[in-house]
Amino acid sequence: MSVTHEFPKDFWWGAATSGPQSEGRFHKAHRSVFDYWFDTEPAAFFDGIGPNVASNFYNDYRADIALMKQIGLNSVRTSIQWTRLIKDFETGETDPDGVRFYNNVIDEFVRQGIRPVLNLHHFDLPVELYEKYGGWASKHVVDLFALFAKRCFELFGDRVKDWVTFNEPMVVVEGEYLYEFHYPKLVDGKQACQVLYNLNLASAKAIAEFRKSTCAQLGGRIGIVLNLTPAYPRSDQPEDVAAAKFAEDYKNNSFLDPAVHGYFTKDLVDVLKTDGVLWESTTEEIELIAKNTVDFLGINYYQPFRAQRREIPYDDAQGWLPEKHFQQYHMPGCRMNPYRGWEIYPKAIYDIAIHVRDHLSNIPWYISENGMGVEGEERFRNADGFIEDDYRIDFIKEHLQWLHKAMQEGSNCFGYHLWTPIDCWSWSNAYKNRYGLIALDLVTQEKTIKKSGLWMHDVIQNHGF
Ligand code: BG6
Repeated sequence: MSVTHEFPKDFWWGAATSGPQSEGRFHKAHRSVFDYWFDTEPAAFFDGIGPNVASNFYNDYRADIALMKQIGLNSVRTSIQWTRLIKDFETGETDPDGVRFYNNVIDEFVRQGIRPVLNLHHFDLPVELYEKYGGWASKHVVDLFALFAKRCFELFGDRVKDWVTFNEPMVVVEGEYLYEFHYPKLVDGKQACQVLYNLNLASAKAIAEFRKSTCAQLGGRIGIVLNLTPAYPRSDQPEDVAAAKFAEDYKNNSFLDPAVHGYFTKDLVDVLKTDGVLWESTTEEIELIAKNTVDFLGINYYQPFRAQRREIPYDDAQGWLPEKHFQQYHMPGCRMNPYRGWEIYPKAIYDIAIHVRDHLSNIPWYISENGMGVEGEERFRNADGFIEDDYRIDFIKEHLQWLHKAMQEGSNCFGYHLWTPIDCWSWSNAYKNRYGLIALDLVTQEKTIKKSGLWMHDVIQNHGF
């Protein structure tokens, strides 16, 4: 195969999943907010399917990792569930079965020559910490998270070199406190701002623990995974540009700037202060955030965000929401993934890469998630029994072409991870849309490599396509 898009020999080719979406709830001592939500409102989940079995990674991890190896993935991200590893959240006492399980998983990745990238939080707050303290609105919970992080570094830092504090903390803010798509489904803009701050603080506190750990001394690295939705204005009219600027500051820079530069975006702080919704912080916390920035960035890119000035006046009776300063613009004729309802705009990956190069000190970064969720993929299963997902191959190719161009122009990207290795459970969408390189039969739990998995195998072998 002749390669027109060549990537570095040590490029991370991989895929990402998470504990709560793959493991199943087997032998877990505690419930996460998602476990609790499913137990109390199963109808909120597509086809009434919750996280109980997921893709059965808890029992199948050896065979699953072997399939990942068969594709040739050299790195895989998953997450450690707080609710599985820790028995007592206040003291950090660990659960023996949780320790055994994650040790086995890590050992198996290492044995198979796959670099394990471990994330500490993937939307899976222990529900007890929400009930007792108010979850991420509480600074005590921030400290408990740092304790959990410390335990993870102590237990697994000898073998895991790449750590992530949070996956998509903005989704916690938006899903739980603004737009009601994650439990507890609140609409409370002021609390959302405090949670946004507390998540940044929790990430910095976990990084501070990491810096003290032997893992850091052994050359380990720590980063954060952010979902970036680059904000494009409807037009170049100043009001549309200003609307997009606020959306960019709120949705993206609110985590990017503290993570990479150690400070909060001044323009954002000014607006939140004027609006009376700025978070409570102390000088010590701000210093801690300044000192504990990341070694690398993971960027999840799925869709852009298009913004316009407000045309419908903002109704203050609903309290403060970021939409006070912009309105979402639904661009006519844009390319959509109809199953997920997300715009497909591959060029944004290039824009992100150039932004990292020019405004984020060209920090080492990788695409930690990108992917296409498709409903009803069984209809693409051919006579030989495997799924012909050419649309996914095209989707990945287009994104990689833009990424390649940005790397040629100097962006410091070291990898590409697809969401996801094996079709997994997608929160309230459950198994509606499939994202994997490997198909999961929900009834038999049989797992088979899709055409995209075979294609990815060749890309990895050839260091490009
Ligand atoms: C990301 C998350 O937002 O996108 C994953 O990190 C998630 O957890 C993925 O599954 C795809 O989104 P969804 O909502 O279709 O599952």
